[in-house]
Amino acid sequence: MLRRKPVADLVAEGGHGEGGNLRRSLGLTQLTTLSIGATLGSGIFVVLGEAVPVAGPAVVLSFVLAGITALFSALSYAELAGMIPLSGSSYSYAYATLGELVAWVCGWCLVLEYGVSVASVAVGWGQYLNELLRLVFGFAIPDALSQPPGVDGGVVNVPAIVVVLLAMLLLISGAKESARANTIMVVVKIATLVLFCAIAFTAVQAKNFSPFLPLGLAGMSAGGAKLFFSYIGFDAASTAGEEARDPQRDLPRAILLSLAIVTVLYCLVAFAAVGALPWQQFGDQQAALSHVLSSVVDNKIWSILLAIGAIVAISSVVLTVLYGQTRILFAMSRDGLVPKALSKVDAKTGTPKVNTMIVSGFVAALAAFIPLGKLADATSIGTLFAFGLVNVAVLLLRRRKPDLPRTFRVPFSPVTPIIGVACCAYMMLSLDGATWIVFGGWMLLGLALYFGYGVHRSRLAGKS
Ligand code: ALA
Repeated sequence: MLRRKPVADLVAEGGHGEGGNLRRSLGLTQLTTLSIGATLGSGIFVVLGEAVPVAGPAVVLSFVLAGITALFSALSYAELAGMIPLSGSSYSYAYATLGELVAWVCGWCLVLEYGVSVASVAVGWGQYLNELLRLVFGFAIPDALSQPPGVDGGVVNVPAIVVVLLAMLLLISGAKESARANTIMVVVKIATLVLFCAIAFTAVQAKNFSPFLPLGLAGMSAGGAKLFFSYIGFDAASTAGEEARDPQRDLPRAILLSLAIVTVLYCLVAFAAVGALPWQQFGDQQAALSHVLSSVVDNKIWSILLAIGAIVAISSVVLTVLYGQTRILFAMSRDGLVPKALSKVDAKTGTPKVNTMIVSGFVAALAAFIPLGKLADATSIGTLFAFGLVNVAVLLLRRRKPDLPRTFRVPFSPVTPIIGVACCAYMMLSLDGATWIVFGGWMLLGLALYFGYGVHRSRLAGKS
């Protein structure tokens, strides 16, 4: 359980799967857009609307606060991704430093960050599709076919199945093809948010910012905890370590660049939104940015464009996060902790085809039949746990392997990673008891799987 995998062995395995190798086809642009693709989505298009009533106009600072928390972990990710450029991301870093059991727990948390979150994001896609159909054609897909059982008379969520299966087809066709499609989608979603800012800025009024902190500093930090969700995904480039052309150089850059771009965009959008519409007028509406635009301009065309932008934005989150999940399981399968079928590489496309089909099937079923609204916070707690471990891994490797080549070094270590761990712990503790219960149940299930399967099948079993 405590056996660790030497960094050199880990790195030497990069790219190899069962029966073939992954293709190294991704450059800095694709890696950066991969991370932006996975990050920029329902957080800014939906959760912003939920955070404004909590923080008031200071929601702009809530974004800064959540961004700073993300930054500490992003620095640690950048150091480790440059050193151990493997598809397993933080699972692989934990395997090198904290031993197999913790690595498994980390990988199991990443299933919350990637697999479960992609299912809930796919559900949001259906909501925006319905919004668009309503705006353009005046009808929407009936609840029975657009909601899971237990929500508004739902039976099955067909749009969620459709978006997951479309992403699966693209992923199977090749990492390069998927990255190209994602880059186009990222351009569209950034353009949509810039368009939103351009329109909303014309309506910004100074009086909407006063008082700036109507709910105090506590409101601002509660808003920050809620908005942490919107930063999840900046680490996605680290799941492409085995398909990057020059991972040591490009992964750290892609992670930090994507976080910088996303943070600036979030702050501008938040400033424009609360500047254009008094904060008290943000409420229960699902499509918050649409609501701002329709309050500011009469022409329906802008809301239609925004809905299209949101659909594209969420499609790219589904595509890239699904990609990340398949690659993390690929690395875990190569180590023997999950079945071997997940690390089989298709000779024609150079992708883990069987893995992609199995993971997509699970995610589509989860999105179609399970009401996932309540799992968003569980996604955050799992992610924060994995981020915390990444900071710990930086500290341990600095001590144990000070001489290993590092293409990026966290500045002011050990102070910075220690603050990183503290930020993650603080955010985890600010999540409610119900979320901790879900997290505890998830961990127990993960441990049962490890002791029932992984511990015996591990490639390191019997070696140490
Ligand atoms: N950060 C991702 C989103 O906001 C999860 O959709």
